[in-house]
Amino acid sequence: MSWIPCSGNSSSKAKIKKKKKTQLQENPVDQIKVTSGILKTKSSLSAKEASNNGGPDHIAAQTFPFRELAAATRNFRPECLLGEGGFGRVYKGRLESTNQVVAIKQLDRNGLQGNREFLVEVLMLSLLHHPNLVNLTGYCADGDQRLLVYEYMPLGSLEDHLHDISPGKKRLDWSTRMKIAAGAAKGLEYLHDKANPPVIYRDLKCSNILLGEGYHPKLSDFGLAKLGPVGDNTHVSTRVMGTYGYCAPEYAMTGQLTLKSDVYSFGVVLLEIITGRKAIDCTKATAEQNLVAWARPLFKDRSKFSQMADPVLQGQYPPRGLYQALAVAAMCVQEQPNMRPVIADVVTALNYLASQKCDPDTQPVQNSRFAPGTPRAKRDSEKKAQRW
Ligand SMILES: Nc1ncnc2c1ncn2[C@@H]1O[C@H](COP(=O)(O)OP(=O)(O)OP(=O)(O)O)[C@@H](O)[C@H]1O
Ligand SMILES: [Mg+2]
Repeated sequence: MSWIPCSGNSSSKAKIKKKKKTQLQENPVDQIKVTSGILKTKSSLSAKEASNNGGPDHIAAQTFPFRELAAATRNFRPECLLGEGGFGRVYKGRLESTNQVVAIKQLDRNGLQGNREFLVEVLMLSLLHHPNLVNLTGYCADGDQRLLVYEYMPLGSLEDHLHDISPGKKRLDWSTRMKIAAGAAKGLEYLHDKANPPVIYRDLKCSNILLGEGYHPKLSDFGLAKLGPVGDNTHVSTRVMGTYGYCAPEYAMTGQLTLKSDVYSFGVVLLEIITGRKAIDCTKATAEQNLVAWARPLFKDRSKFSQMADPVLQGQYPPRGLYQALAVAAMCVQEQPNMRPVIADVVTALNYLASQKCDPDTQPVQNSRFAPGTPRAKRDSEKKAQRW
């Protein structure tokens, strides 16, 4: 992954950034402060946000000493572990000073990449604020420790509710699925259309959509986010990073990243929400392992649409709503990026679908099929392998 291109195309800014970076390499906290200043000055995020943040040198997120976070998680006890991703483990903790319940991500201390991810995440979440983006409470950069402190999302990730659901856990009904999809799309719309310059998220997937009370969705994990193209540029060129199965084909092949790469990933997530299938599932027959490849021929035949609905729904969905949701997903995962819709149009469509009442009592009931369970630990270990 390359360094966050705060400077766009300006070579003078690039020099300043490089100098600052070299100067401050030894002190990551200073590095965050200075880089954030450059980013905000250059990016001119809304005046309201700038004033909220108290000017370019201000970091909204708090810094924590390592011992406070160790105490919050009772020394990173395994019982506090919420999950593990490609970059480290996430623990539930309680901050002694405020009594606030938080999620603490401890980054693996192996190499430069984690440090870059950390810096980008702190920068992005210090600048970007929206009801559908997770809040960063603070961070710790003591010595070689790198930890991120987030608001705790009590219902975990969308992945926990869609795939490998533990017995007894409530299945997501159709309306909740549409509300989650609409909320996630709004978070993405904020990054694409409200942030200036736009932010390409690059890591949209079910495990990065966290759920609060009432299944309110928030996007998390901004370590891979990039400032989007400015001026007449149509893309930014970068090393291909992301998660297998969610990555737009043109980005995977050329490294050319556009806002439409995120729209493709969103289409994959929407397909997962509708079908209950994983983006990549190696336990399935070869033709069904890649969700988009499996779905494409089915999109062409309306009579097959009902076969695509998650069997867990037991047929309890509005048929028109299913068709329309599948139509949105089909548009988002088109091969040609310019054929994909802009996220604002996706938001409009999903807002409509989320506002439709789905009365389970009036919906036809089909045969159900529940996916076999996979232990959580196995899933976590698979994640590192899926990362690029
Ligand atoms: N703020 C949070 N509140 C509650 N649970 C969280 C929070 N952040 C993360 N988690 C849990 O921790 C798990 C691991 O998160 P993490 O972001 O490290 O990895 P991931 O998104 O699952 O995978 P990857 O590293 O490939 O992106 C999540 O799937 C989620 O269940
Ligand atoms: Mg994540």
